[in-house]
Amino acid sequence: MSKDHEKRLSAEKALAYVEKGSVVGVGTGSTVAFFIDGLADLRHDIEGAVSSSEQSTARLRALGIPVLDLNAVGTVPLYVDGADECDPGNRLIKGGGAALTREKIIAEAADRFVCVIDAAKQVDVLGRFPLPVEVVPMARSLVARALVGIGGQPVWREGVTTDNGNWILDVHHLRIVDPVGLEARINQIPGVVSVGLFARRAADEVIVAGQVRSVAM
Ligand code: A5P
Repeated sequence: MSKDHEKRLSAEKALAYVEKGSVVGVGTGSTVAFFIDGLADLRHDIEGAVSSSEQSTARLRALGIPVLDLNAVGTVPLYVDGADECDPGNRLIKGGGAALTREKIIAEAADRFVCVIDAAKQVDVLGRFPLPVEVVPMARSLVARALVGIGGQPVWREGVTTDNGNWILDVHHLRIVDPVGLEARINQIPGVVSVGLFARRAADEVIVAGQVRSVAM
């Protein structure tokens, strides 16, 4: 089965979690694009969506799905998003598409976070995928030095500016055995806007190639 097919199956399965009359939290990426396409068929049954990126907002609007402001909505019953890596405890690396900060905000505001992935995203220990960190531009080198201090090798994603006007450092060569601890540590570096480790707020459910996976820990 191709990765794209697995992504599509996961996204379609997640549509079953959408509640009638609700506002749906929508992530970013190629897997979520399949979810948005399916959500278009339910657009008359939902109030609308809150979106984690300009990219998803454009796709939602193009398909006639109202995009609402999270401040006006408060909380959402469901957030559906992809991931770059997922460990057995449903902790994630996200941000390959540079949308990590808004993704984290909506995940936090969601009662239920359903993560949709293809099988290749599953790992025993997070860190093979370079960990994205969104930084205020003037703090780029300061944050990079601090990341070297914790054992990583940060690489500036040159040419990419996030929807929030910030930059991304991708941290290579991490073996993340304590995801909650590392998330807290990186969050404390001045200039860090957010880190693409979703450990404190992990996914509630993970759908892999259309199958709901049970949490191992
Ligand atoms: C966007 O910033 C990311 O967090 C995506 O959710 C992640 O990169 C997964 O993307 P794909 O579904 O395209 O693999």
